[in-house]
Amino acid sequence: METNETAAATEDIELEEVDLAPTEEILKNIPDDSRGHLIPTLQKIQNVYRFLPAPAMELLMERLNVSRAELYGVISFYPQLLITEPGKYIIKLCYGTACFVKGASIIGDKINDCYHIRPGDTDSTKLFTLQTASCLGNCGAAPMAIIGDDTHGTIDPEKTLEILGGYKLDDAPETEEATAS
Ligand code: FES
Repeated sequence: METNETAAATEDIELEEVDLAPTEEILKNIPDDSRGHLIPTLQKIQNVYRFLPAPAMELLMERLNVSRAELYGVISFYPQLLITEPGKYIIKLCYGTACFVKGASIIGDKINDCYHIRPGDTDSTKLFTLQTASCLGNCGAAPMAIIGDDTHGTIDPEKTLEILGGYKLDDAPETEEATAS
């Protein structure tokens, strides 16, 4: 998505009341006009909200003296940085070479058949957000996926759907994870 489109999409998002106190606390400890802190700061803010709410981004732009184009250019470069609230569980499906040759894209297609999500999408019930990864560090167990905090290896399309079927919206809330690690 183009930078301007990304920014426009963000402005269009109807956000509920966002508590900006955690953002202010994070920004308080960063020197003014300090662009070198941009990515770590975005990661910290996302760790609080699970995504990057537009009002928090307004504060950040003002404090770090970063333009909207620059900010959303950076955000769009890192797929782990999210401008909309993700589903309850993030599926990180590995598309690295070892996983790809063992059918990761077929698994991705199967997930799309069932949940109608492509990489970057969240399903309509907000249960899952699908992301891809370049390598999850355990190629011997390819194909690999991480779902929420759980790691799954040697998966196949059917097994993946079976695993996904075990995740429910009314499960106990999972702990926050750093999606921009
Ligand atoms: S390529 Fe998938 S775990 Fe390494």
